[in-house]
Amino acid sequence: MRAYTFTLNGRPVTVRAPADMPLLWVLRDLLGVTGPKYGCGVGVCRACTSHLDGAEIQPCVVPVADCADRTVTTIEGLADGDTLHPVQQAWLACDVAQCGFCQPGQIMAAAALLAHTPDPTDADIDAIENICRCGTYARIREAIKQAAASGEKGVSRREVGGEPVS
Ligand code: FES
Ligand code: FES
Repeated sequence: MRAYTFTLNGRPVTVRAPADMPLLWVLRDLLGVTGPKYGCGVGVCRACTSHLDGAEIQPCVVPVADCADRTVTTIEGLADGDTLHPVQQAWLACDVAQCGFCQPGQIMAAAALLAHTPDPTDADIDAIENICRCGTYARIREAIKQAAASGEKGVSRREVGGEPVS
C-alpha cells in the first residue's frame, strides 16, 4: 500500500490504500464520506456518482490511484457553504426525493450535465442513466429544467471549505 493525496470537497486528504481500491471504498470506508451510495459496484446504477476534476465519475469503478493529486467532489461538497447548488435548490422545490438512496448520485449527475449543457433538452436529460427504484424520473426532469432556468451555471462551485473528513 502507498499513500494517495487528493483534494476532497475542498480539503486535502491522504489515505493509505491498495492502488486498485475503488474510490468509493476509500470515500465511504476510509474517509467516512457516505453521500455517494453503494448500489451495484460495477458502474451501472450510478448511485455513487461524484465528480473528478469537475467531470462525472462512478467512484465504484475508479481506482484510488487514478485520483492522486486530483480534485474529488461528492454531494457533501456541492453546496457553496450554506448556499445550496442550484440543482439542490430545484430538487427541494420539486420535492424530488422519495426513499432518497439514489438522490446524491442523481444530483451530481444533473450538476455535471448542466456544467457542460446549461440548457438541456429532454433528450439530454434522458441520457442520464442513473437508476431510481422509486421512479422519480418525472420530477428529476422538472428539477433539472428548473435549475437550468435559474440562469445559474450548474457547476460544482465549491472548491474550498467543507467538512473535515480525516
Ligand atoms: S455503485 Fe452502482 S455505479 Fe457505482
Ligand atoms: S428516490 Fe428511491 S431510489 Fe431514487
